[in-house]
Amino acid sequence: MDETRRQYSFMDEARQYVAGEAARLGRPLTYHVTTFGCQMNARDSEKLSGILEMIGYLPGEEEEADLVLINTCTVRENANQRVYGRLGQLGGQKKRRPGMVIGICGCMMQEADEVERIRKTYRFVDLVFGTHNIFQLAELLVRRFRQREMVVDVWDGAKEIVEDLPAVRKYPFKSGVNIMFGCNNFCSYCIVPYVRGRERSREPGDILREAERLAQDGVVEIMLLGQNVNSYGKTLGTPMSFAALLREMEKVEGIRRIRFMTSHPKDLSQELIQVMASSHKICRHLHLPLQSGSTRILQAMNRRYTKEGYLALVERIREAMPDISLTTDIIVGFPGETEEDFEETLDVVRRVRYDSAFTFLYSKRTGTPAAAMDCQVDPGVAHRRFDRLLREVQDIAAQEARRYEGQTMEVLAEEVNRQQAGMLTGRLSNNFTVHFPADPSLIGKLVQVRLEKCCGFYYVGELA
Ligand code: SAH
Ligand code: SF4
Ligand code: F3S
Repeated sequence: MDETRRQYSFMDEARQYVAGEAARLGRPLTYHVTTFGCQMNARDSEKLSGILEMIGYLPGEEEEADLVLINTCTVRENANQRVYGRLGQLGGQKKRRPGMVIGICGCMMQEADEVERIRKTYRFVDLVFGTHNIFQLAELLVRRFRQREMVVDVWDGAKEIVEDLPAVRKYPFKSGVNIMFGCNNFCSYCIVPYVRGRERSREPGDILREAERLAQDGVVEIMLLGQNVNSYGKTLGTPMSFAALLREMEKVEGIRRIRFMTSHPKDLSQELIQVMASSHKICRHLHLPLQSGSTRILQAMNRRYTKEGYLALVERIREAMPDISLTTDIIVGFPGETEEDFEETLDVVRRVRYDSAFTFLYSKRTGTPAAAMDCQVDPGVAHRRFDRLLREVQDIAAQEARRYEGQTMEVLAEEVNRQQAGMLTGRLSNNFTVHFPADPSLIGKLVQVRLEKCCGFYYVGELA
């Protein structure tokens, strides 16, 4: 709590500076946060935006904003490349408008080499910080305003979870809620445990209080966020299971839909399956990353389940919830992956029949055990496998999507359809999208929609 108060006093100080600048320029100052990466980063960006708005910045376009923050991802090589591309453009912008403040934060900044590169090559950057101290944004800005040179502050690990700081939401009616930070799994290809630190769970009381406040503020759908939500609560003073947290969350009045991300198959308990099956609020969607269908590769990935174990788990889930939608993540071309290993992955895809799958080419991350493994797969071979997998995944998904055609289902109306006038876009409990003609006043409401036609990955429907 003391840290929270400290940060609010920095927000006060920064606000005075921003107000002074705005008076001098005769217009309000604006900000823009560009986010790469996962839902965790998206939520962090909402917190960063919350602090910036508290300080007096208004939301603005990236091309004109007085302050631009880039919240980075480093999970794959192409994520890094995109960040440097964006940073180059911002450098040009700052030449034309020297008063601009440019900040870079997030997972990439937890890597010493990347910070060095910014210091040497991108000297126009004003602020560099990492994943553990985003709550310090106001404090770092104050330092920048005072010292007028690049402020670099990256922590090796988190000291505490700072609660009760402001956040803005992209959508008024739905919100992410962090339930845990970091990851202890050390899958051998993955950089996340190194850049996000050890697993820490928030106190259930803090999580529920946040959910209650969000509900009072008009939120009807909550997405519980963690790298491995199934191990929630294990490190708490009084341990609590994820299933037990869900049972409490279910009681929060006003919350109509509960989602969560991501589930690690090795920790998905029977208790969780039961809680999901008997819940009226938990959505009928489970994202269950497979990564590979080959037990041998799974072992090399340090995933700690087998092909058979994964398939048995899927069977138990489907038995309890026949209408559940399953989606997944798959990596192609992990070191040592043979044609036989890849066939095992295709086999799981054909048996499970996912509604969608994120497929990734293996990307070597320096510092992870897999980067040091010999027998890295030839890029040409990996690309061909990737294309085969993608085709299989898309064919199956297109066939499966049709199964709800003609049914009437509950839809959360989310936004105006950008392609077609008079249409809204919403989501089913199972995460499928639906376009239907309706008035924008329904946005944020749960409505019954008849799913008239399946068009590949989405439905077109009519209000029932
Ligand atoms: N915590 C989540 C995933 C976080 S990263 C989980 O365990 O499922 C999101 C996805 O990126 C992973 O599921 C994985 O499929 C992919 N990924 C992670 N590291 C990668 C790498 N080095 N190369 C390619 N894909 C990777
Ligand atoms: Fe990465 Fe594995 Fe942790 Fe997911 S569970 S974040 S893939 S180490
Ligand atoms: Fe990327 Fe960091 Fe998420 S590396 S995937 S933004 S935790």
